[in-house]
Amino acid sequence: MQTITTVAELRRELAKACSAGKRVGLVPTMGYLHDGHLALVEASRAQCDVTVVSIFVNPTQFGPNEDLSSYPRDFVRDEKLCRDAGVEIVFAPGAQEVYPAQFETFVEPGELAKPLCGAFRPGHFRGVATVVCKLFNMVHPDVVFFGQKDFQQCAVVRRMATDLNLPIKIVTVPTVREPDGLAMSSRNRHLSKEERRRAVAIGRGLFAAAEEFRAGVREVEKLIAIAERQLETVDRLQYLELVDGDTLKRAESPLRFPAALCVAAYVGSTRLIDNVLLGLPTP
Ligand code: PAJ
Repeated sequence: MQTITTVAELRRELAKACSAGKRVGLVPTMGYLHDGHLALVEASRAQCDVTVVSIFVNPTQFGPNEDLSSYPRDFVRDEKLCRDAGVEIVFAPGAQEVYPAQFETFVEPGELAKPLCGAFRPGHFRGVATVVCKLFNMVHPDVVFFGQKDFQQCAVVRRMATDLNLPIKIVTVPTVREPDGLAMSSRNRHLSKEERRRAVAIGRGLFAAAEEFRAGVREVEKLIAIAERQLETVDRLQYLELVDGDTLKRAESPLRFPAALCVAAYVGSTRLIDNVLLGLPTP
């Protein structure tokens, strides 16, 4: 495995892979890797010949009062996890490499970036779309892998790839959870033991609603109320919304499929997000 920190060197290495006709997979991350990230790596290894994991805590997707400075980092551990997982290249550029002085060009997503997280994190998806677009241009992957856990991020990135004619296949990988249902997240490490116990309510709320959906309940308000009941133990519910899976606009009864039940909640001072899809055709 190689660790590369500059775009020039990355391009040199990937040119070799490209001329050998190899299929390149990209897994963009902000590091502090866990089994959720590694599921993306596994998917890439299954579909591609060369897997590039990018590790970059992207400053432009954090608001001024958000957790950029306290975002967990452990590069040595991340490198080892990548090596053990069979990754070929870790791309870990510094902030100057990605955003040199005078940088001023951004990708501005549209309607999909407005609801849910977008309503509470102004500029977040502009930062995500920009860095993801830049990573696509640096790596030129054939396939890129994103986690279902960040449902709105997947929607925004897919839209961007279509709108900007980026010739990249985008794969969404199902959310990896702890045994008690908590979605894996780098931010989980900020939870105290007591908060960790209470955080389980997030998954429970979503699963309870999904269960009722499977049992035939189709009224939007009823499904939300079922999830809300479980979510009483979180400290602050930022949003709990049932949205159309394609437009991300609020779903109306009767539900159109797929729909997504999405939540953002604070447990202590840690903000966690999660979602479940309702009514996906079973493969
Ligand atoms: P990060 O939060 O590190 O996540 C990197 C990728 O891992 C994202 O596609 C995310 O959806 C996926 N992921 C996180 N937790 C997961 C879980 N429990 N199961 C499955 N996949 C999971 O998302 C970002 O970084 C950034 O916004 C990024 C796309 C790298 C742009 O900076």
